[in-house]
Amino acid sequence: MRTRLVTPNCLLWLLVSVCFSLQLKAAPIIEGERSSPVQGDKGMVVTSHFLATEEALKVLQKGGNAVDAAVTAAFALAVTQPRSGNIGGGGFMLISSEQKQEVVAIDYRETAPAAASRDMFLDAEGKVDKMLSRFSHKAAGVPGTVAGLALALGQYGTLTLAETLAPAIRLAEEGFIVTPRFSNGIKQRADRLRQWPSSAAVFLKKDGGFYEPGDRFVQPDLAKTLKRIAERGPDGFYKGETAELIVAEMQRGGGLISHADLAGYQAKMRKPAAGTYRGYDIYSMSPPSSGGAHIVQILNLLESHPIGYLGHNSAATIHLMAEAMKRAYADRAEYLGDSDFVEVPLAGITSKSYAAELNKQISRNHVTPSPAIKPGKPLAFESDETTHFSVVDQYGNAVSNTYTINFSYGNHIVVEGAGFLLNNEMDDFSAKPGVPNAYGLLGGETNKIEPGKRMLSSMSPTIVKRKGKNFLVTGSPGGSRIITTTLQVIMNVIDHGLNIQAAVNAPRIHHQWLPDEIRIEQGISPDTIALLERQGHVVKQKSAMGAIQSILIDPDGRMLGAADPRRSTSSAMGF
Ligand code: GLY
Repeated sequence: MRTRLVTPNCLLWLLVSVCFSLQLKAAPIIEGERSSPVQGDKGMVVTSHFLATEEALKVLQKGGNAVDAAVTAAFALAVTQPRSGNIGGGGFMLISSEQKQEVVAIDYRETAPAAASRDMFLDAEGKVDKMLSRFSHKAAGVPGTVAGLALALGQYGTLTLAETLAPAIRLAEEGFIVTPRFSNGIKQRADRLRQWPSSAAVFLKKDGGFYEPGDRFVQPDLAKTLKRIAERGPDGFYKGETAELIVAEMQRGGGLISHADLAGYQAKMRKPAAGTYRGYDIYSMSPPSSGGAHIVQILNLLESHPIGYLGHNSAATIHLMAEAMKRAYADRAEYLGDSDFVEVPLAGITSKSYAAELNKQISRNHVTPSPAIKPGKPLAFESDETTHFSVVDQYGNAVSNTYTINFSYGNHIVVEGAGFLLNNEMDDFSAKPGVPNAYGLLGGETNKIEPGKRMLSSMSPTIVKRKGKNFLVTGSPGGSRIITTTLQVIMNVIDHGLNIQAAVNAPRIHHQWLPDEIRIEQGISPDTIALLERQGHVVKQKSAMGAIQSILIDPDGRMLGAADPRRSTSSAMGF
């Protein structure tokens, strides 16, 4: 069974366009409309672009496995959704095999170039230069996507890299029809894209005009770049002509990525962060992402409270969630970083006994102001514009993948001649302890810039298992809100018994310790807000959070795909 986006009317798109241009200050919006999940028995794909979903589904239908389909989707998204799908960025993939009873994580996060240094984003007065850390050549970390996808495919796939790249190459060469979301995205970022001739050449027409819905968008340089990967594997990206083009781009704009950085990049296999929640097994991304650590930590904190009884999005539930979230984000700022460079007390943060200790501070009635919350002591408990897609196959495999170039359009700089955007992931490092990054997240010494280090992430590709079987495959974009978005879909299913589409659609809340406010989406009842405010919480309604693409597998093996209506192009397809 298949579904495809029902394109909303022009007025809605106008609203979408205005809202997105205002970014975080905008009123919340839901771009699309979806009320029930898509069903399948043999395979399911949910991505943020229907063309990528379609290509990945074809792979499953031909007998390919979930990793084959995931890698196909990732390359197709790099073409159809260049604002966040990427080969110029990085990410994380979780793979669960029921047959092997194994869940593994692939870390293809970007790294700081060898020439990067701790204070590289500070100006003469010691202040963080945000333009430099976000919109310059220096903002780019060494891309990891091509190495990561090749590693996943080599270890767990059955297709060749060239086979998984074929649909992406065709979509880049022959082009695809522009959607309203695609066109609006470019219009909103046109001023920044125009600053770079290489970006303008890709994203604007020859006369400087905009691509409008219905136009065909062709990317010949990107097609050539993808063909080089198809011909030579990762060497077709990290060495040879593409590497020359990246280094030349760096030299033109004062960037730091060198040939040695590219040739030396390595994706890594990691053990996922793991925990349990009310009898379910939770697997999510381990450092250099903070996502898994804090999803498990918050679930541990909430497990001793009767969340289901207190009710979905009731004031009592939101209060407890906010109190738990604050403590987790305080720990994030203190303890999280690249575990290849710093000791991350992952076992402590994810332990039930640490949660029991922290829970002593949490009361059903009392709000602890964020300034009064300090990072806890997990060491004492040590025993030893991103996009997400989810895929499930007929062989018991599941893939949960989140990858990003950080902002929509990354640093907005296309590598001239290579046709892809570079990330601005260096902004996810802590440029100066105590100064928040673009998501308002604080960081400290553990996340300072060091050559070769991976910047701390919040990306949380997650797989929940029940009695050894894959149960829920989920994850989201959204910067600091990724962790809480993913958390809420898990809670909506396990605590509140919502069907997967309702769990995805439901209005979300977020607290990240600082700023000391509960951020909510449109749709939380005014009565609830009033109760929370009376209790002492600051509640702010802001724009929609995340775009969580999820699959639930019910006890009969039926696959239910739920695309997030917050992204109009997202789609679930199964068979
Ligand atoms: N760039 C957003 C994240 O990795 O968390």
